[in-house]
Amino acid sequence: MPKYRNSLNVDPNSNDPMISRRSFLALMGVGACLVGGGMMFGASTLGFLYPNAMKIPPSVFAIGRPEEVLSRDGKVFVPKQKAFVETNSGKVRVQTAVCTHLGCTVNMVETGYACPCHGSTYDIHGKNTGGPAPLPLVYYTVFLAASGELMVDKNKTTLDWEAAWFSLT
Ligand code: FES
Repeated sequence: MPKYRNSLNVDPNSNDPMISRRSFLALMGVGACLVGGGMMFGASTLGFLYPNAMKIPPSVFAIGRPEEVLSRDGKVFVPKQKAFVETNSGKVRVQTAVCTHLGCTVNMVETGYACPCHGSTYDIHGKNTGGPAPLPLVYYTVFLAASGELMVDKNKTTLDWEAAWFSLT
């Protein structure tokens, strides 16, 4: 049974500056709890203040210098941007790989594209041909930046697969 009715069991009328070992440990426990609580609150507050937008890939991105990109033919998948970069005879076009149903990433197949999530299919131009996908896969605008790199603007889209080609001439 504590002698005094306070949390540190200290005589409130005493002028003795020394505190007991029990009181010291109790103070250390309270201090550790306050520091731990403060760190948790600070971490969660900083996490809340940190903008999530920083984690989203930019809507305009580079695909390389023209002499590199346009010198090869074929279609490659760019995972970070979820897009297909297709080059053919000195021209390039970029198409989204995001399924228009619920946003899964489509795969290239012999007949075009197929979504692994709910079975939507698209033809080689990205036109939706089956499954729940309501819309075709869009093409992004490709342009030559002042830096000399080929850039893709995801905000400017077209469904015209012929007009989507970009070439330097
Ligand atoms: S997300 Fe592609 S079919 Fe549902």
